[in-house]
Amino acid sequence: MTDTDSIRITTLAERPSLIARVYEIADTWPAFTPHDPVAGALLSRVAEDFPHYCVVATDGTRVVARGLSVPFNAVIDDREEMPDQGWDRVLVWAFRDQHRGRPPTTASAIEITVDTEYLGRGLSYRMLAALRQACGRRGHDVLLAPVRPTAKHLHPRVTMADYISRRRDDGLPTDPWLRVHVKVGGTIEKIAPTSMTVSGSLTQWRQWTGLPFDRDGDIEVPGALVPVHCDTRHDHAVYVEPNVWIRHSVHDTAGGLSAFGG
Ligand SMILES: CC(C)(COP(=O)(O)OP(=O)(O)OC[C@H]1O[C@@H](n2cnc3c(N)ncnc32)[C@H](O)[C@@H]1OP(=O)(O)O)[C@@H](O)C(=O)NCCC(=O)NCCS
Repeated sequence: MTDTDSIRITTLAERPSLIARVYEIADTWPAFTPHDPVAGALLSRVAEDFPHYCVVATDGTRVVARGLSVPFNAVIDDREEMPDQGWDRVLVWAFRDQHRGRPPTTASAIEITVDTEYLGRGLSYRMLAALRQACGRRGHDVLLAPVRPTAKHLHPRVTMADYISRRRDDGLPTDPWLRVHVKVGGTIEKIAPTSMTVSGSLTQWRQWTGLPFDRDGDIEVPGALVPVHCDTRHDHAVYVEPNVWIRHSVHDTAGGLSAFGG
């Protein structure tokens, strides 16, 4: 066990030498997620292009967690703060705005990932607080987040609307990751029904999952929050992942502004 107090959390702008290393973390993301075309095209560029909006945790020289967020303009054209296409949509907007030099009006979290050896030690709270603080330093009042509930994959047939209504006796969400967000003051706003989309041929899906993909209809895939739709006649399957929009006020103190360690 490593003492969590030995963990240091800063923005990547403060430690740019770590930018190339934040994606090296041993993680538990399902193998199909990088095949979302938006993730494939843009996720690896977030740390380099938005270092002030990204945080990194280290234990000695080891990178043990990353927290990524992006700024975007939510008021131009027909945009909205919390689009139905959630994660995919805000990531595209952020890079498009940066390319065109548009001023951001808000920020959205993209992910927090903790190294598998450091799970279950409360690090996610510190990373979320650090992300909020980083966005506050960039002048934002709010951090939005299209959240991927971490235990939803255990209930793939349950609708997201039903799932987010599930509460413990103390009123907090049963889902651990939704609970973290709510405990630090976040509010569950709405569902992003099409937050990530992964499509592929049946051969690809077999490679990604090890499953036969030999029948039409809904296929349950480990790690998937909802079933994957399989169409054998047309040789494709499509996964449409719902996420949950959560709004954090950056300036309330519930998240703990002492988040930055070391
Ligand atoms: C989500 C994630 C960041 C949580 O990180 P973590 O540091 O292990 O979490 P913490 O130790 O801070 O615990 C957070 C909460 O989850 C609970 N929890 C932790 N591990 C759990 C597990 N295996 N099963 C159930 N609950 C768990 C904790 O009890 C805690 O809830 P509580 O404070 O109400 O008791 C981590 O699991 C991860 O990196 N997952 C892969 C990437 C991902 O899915 N990220 C989220 C989408 S962006």
